[in-house]
Amino acid sequence: MSFSDVLTVVGGFTLALYLLKLSWRCWCGFRQFVLSEFWRVDVRTYGQWAVVTGATSGIGKAYASELAARGLDVVLVSRSDDKLQMVAKEIEQQYGRKTRTIQVDFNNGQSIYPVIAEELQGLEIGILVNNVGMLYSDHFAYFLEIPDSEQMTRLVLPCMIERERGLIINMSSEVGVRPQPLLSLYCATKIFVIYFSQCLHAEYKSKGITVQCVAPFMVSTNMTKNRTSNYLVRSASGFVREALNTVGRSSYTSGSLSHALQNIALTVLLPDWFRMSTFLIRKLRNKAEADQYDKTVCRETLDAKED
Ligand SMILES: NC(=O)c1ccc[n+]([C@@H]2O[C@H](COP(=O)([O-])OP(=O)(O)OC[C@H]3O[C@@H](n4cnc5c(N)ncnc54)[C@H](OP(=O)(O)O)[C@@H]3O)[C@@H](O)[C@H]2O)c1
Ligand SMILES: *[C@@H]1O[C@H](CO)[C@@H](O)[C@H](O)[C@H]1NC(C)=O
Ligand SMILES: *[C@@H]1O[C@H](CO)[C@@H](O)[C@H](O)[C@H]1NC(C)=O
Ligand SMILES: *[C@@H]1O[C@H](CO)[C@@H](O)[C@H](O)[C@H]1NC(C)=O
Repeated sequence: MSFSDVLTVVGGFTLALYLLKLSWRCWCGFRQFVLSEFWRVDVRTYGQWAVVTGATSGIGKAYASELAARGLDVVLVSRSDDKLQMVAKEIEQQYGRKTRTIQVDFNNGQSIYPVIAEELQGLEIGILVNNVGMLYSDHFAYFLEIPDSEQMTRLVLPCMIERERGLIINMSSEVGVRPQPLLSLYCATKIFVIYFSQCLHAEYKSKGITVQCVAPFMVSTNMTKNRTSNYLVRSASGFVREALNTVGRSSYTSGSLSHALQNIALTVLLPDWFRMSTFLIRKLRNKAEADQYDKTVCRETLDAKED
């Protein structure tokens, strides 16, 4: 066999392997985002109640509504009682499911967990959606805060293990997949969520518990200034409908087909060295400052008019 024959064999083998991997990925994506629309896991089999943290707005509210639409009763957890009552009423009227509300601030540390534990007592909790991430500054900032939401899982996991059935959904983010300058703490906490979920999934799957990590790109919510939704920026309800279909198909997901494709595009088009370059960081920062400046000028103009 000549040298070029060897190269041909190696090349052919590499290509075949690559194509095999590619078709496997395509099939997984197809199953996760397209087939799942027609072939859904019945979420009611996890148990009667779902607990959703940060359930009064955005992605959390969409999860609460969609789970109620799929036949679960929901416990809503967030800071403001008025918003909680409003969302609870909306869900009861629209889907005819039971609701409970728990008003707590996840920034208040350990003291809130006895309150939550008492409220959850006696409920058969099948699903926990850990959606409250962290406080988010309204522009690119150098540092942020995480509440101690790890405790939520501690509260519900033991009963799930006893029933050998349970689903825990953790909200991470695409910025948790790779380092993102100017969102340093935010993205660091999001990779924490990814690793944490993957480890817990591995540890508890033999006990009937699924831990799913959802890492979206941009979803139109209060946090993203109600950006108009389109094919790239998904609406919260559209996003969650797709994300819930992936339950049982994937323990780590972008949540929607659009976001999965954006993940691939970003990997190919925006290499790490460029994303981490001082050039791009300055561009991003300047743009954020310009947006901020526009807002200030706009506000001042309005104030002047009112005077
Ligand atoms: N939107 C996106 O593009 C995007 C992308 C990737 C990941 N995510 C992740 O998705 C999750 C939800 O984001 P979102 O965009 O839906 O946000 P959002 O619209 O601002 O909603 C946040 C929810 O959390 C509650 N909340 C906030 N701080 C709280 C606290 N300290 N204690 C208790 N409740 C609190 C809020 O209710 P109250 O004000 O009543 O407390 C509200 O219901 C976050 O983990 C975020 O990191 C979002
Ligand atoms: C992520 O998932 C783990 C396992 O379910 C859970 O213990 C933890 O509370 C979650 N973390 C966050 C920050 O949501
Ligand atoms: C949107 O965010 C602002 C500022 O953080 C907050 O005051 C307001 O209550 C939020 N609105 C909703 C619907 O959650
Ligand atoms: C986004 O829309 C909600 C509900 O329509 C509103 O309460 C909230 O103030 C808006 N947030 C921003 C940042 O414009």
